[in-house]
Amino acid sequence: MSKDQLIAALNRQLAAEYQAIIQYLHYAAVVTGPYRPELVTFFQTEVADETLHAQYLAGKVAALGGDPTTEPKAVPHSTDPRTLLQYVLSAEEEAVKAYAEIIKIADEVGEYGVRIQAENFLQEEATHTDETRKLLAGHWEA
Ligand SMILES: [Fe+2]
Ligand SMILES: [Fe+2]
Repeated sequence: MSKDQLIAALNRQLAAEYQAIIQYLHYAAVVTGPYRPELVTFFQTEVADETLHAQYLAGKVAALGGDPTTEPKAVPHSTDPRTLLQYVLSAEEEAVKAYAEIIKIADEVGEYGVRIQAENFLQEEATHTDETRKLLAGHWEA
């Protein structure tokens, strides 16, 4: 493992965090149905966490001598609440995996500050995952 691999992993996750910011803003704008008010609040609340993640990752890529990406991953579109929550769930699960990978690489290359920050972010993404699962459970079969 090298510092370049860490920079690449941080940049991949930066693209995913930019995606998450757009995803939550977009979903809050377009979600329809009787649960819209709750879902708008849920989606809008996530934006702050994802913005802090992106801010940290961009700063760290630059500090390590890399070029922080400005390209978000593509956001899948729908207006159906259940479909939107499923897209969110899979993005959050991927974020947990991505931070687990960053933790491993950061540890190997001796970037312990990155490891600790990635641990905190992993915990936040795991909470987002839990909350999304709970929102999906039960209510949406009807
Ligand atoms: Fe995030
Ligand atoms: Fe998240």
